Amino acid sequence: MNKDTHFGFEKVSTEEKQEKVNSVFTSVAENYDLMNDVMSFGLHRFWKKIMIELAGVKPDSKVLDLAGGTGDIAKEIHLNFPDAEITVADINAEMLIYGKKRSVDENFFKNTSFCQLNGELLPFGDEYFDTTTIAFGLRNFTNKEKGLSEMHRCLANNGKLIILEFSKPQNATFSKIYDWYSFNVMPVMGSIFASDSDSYRYLAESIRMHPDQERLKEKILKAGFTDCKFYNLLNGIVAIHVAEKN
Ligand SMILES: C[S@@+](CC[C@H](N)C(=O)[O-])C[C@H]1O[C@@H](n2cnc3c(N)ncnc32)[C@H](O)[C@@H]1O
Repeated sequence: MNKDTHFGFEKVSTEEKQEKVNSVFTSVAENYDLMNDVMSFGLHRFWKKIMIELAGVKPDSKVLDLAGGTGDIAKEIHLNFPDAEITVADINAEMLIYGKKRSVDENFFKNTSFCQLNGELLPFGDEYFDTTTIAFGLRNFTNKEKGLSEMHRCLANNGKLIILEFSKPQNATFSKIYDWYSFNVMPVMGSIFASDSDSYRYLAESIRMHPDQERLKEKILKAGFTDCKFYNLLNGIVAIHVAEKN
């Protein structure tokens, strides 16, 4: 088998990559929401709110939340636009089970559907969605170019793609502190709170392997989007890319 992609820092074949990513999210699903709060000190909630503000969703929009996991983004959209039609799509059955349960417990199930699929091969017609959101998902795709091209195909003309993802800190000192936190603190916290240090080591490594702000912008434009801007949050630890299809 050709070892032509990466799982964190490890070189793996494309088949192995998808399996390994799946086992990470199957393993973290139960504690996923808690761990997001713990690892980001609750900041991910704030980042997701900004993402939705930039998404330009309209009251009757059709929204695809790709790699939607346990439904954070769907919940935020539903709170603001209860009539929007939201499709939460994810490759991992376990993450979707928790997302579906949450949508009932936290009352965002109306107009929200859950769908298990691979974001690199979307089962939707051309130009179906008005908005596509993807939060902390693209980094895990085996073939990001394929995923972006599918997102482009399924977006209507004048539709928007919003990507929230870890990126590259802009300041060298800040970057060193962040590296120390990622490789020393995160796996230990993963072990304490979720009895799982490996998945959180993968998280730290996958962030380092993901394209930085400019390289991701290039990929987005190459997939056919006409305009792409990005906004750095927390010195670029996280970035939001907003792209348009015209
Ligand atoms: C870090 S979680 C993000 C969940 C949610 N968007 C959030 O921000 O809380 C990444 C998600 O991406 C999903 N994922 C990874 N590869 C995927 C693919 N090829 N297609 C669809 N979903 C994928 C995983 O199953 C996981 O649920």
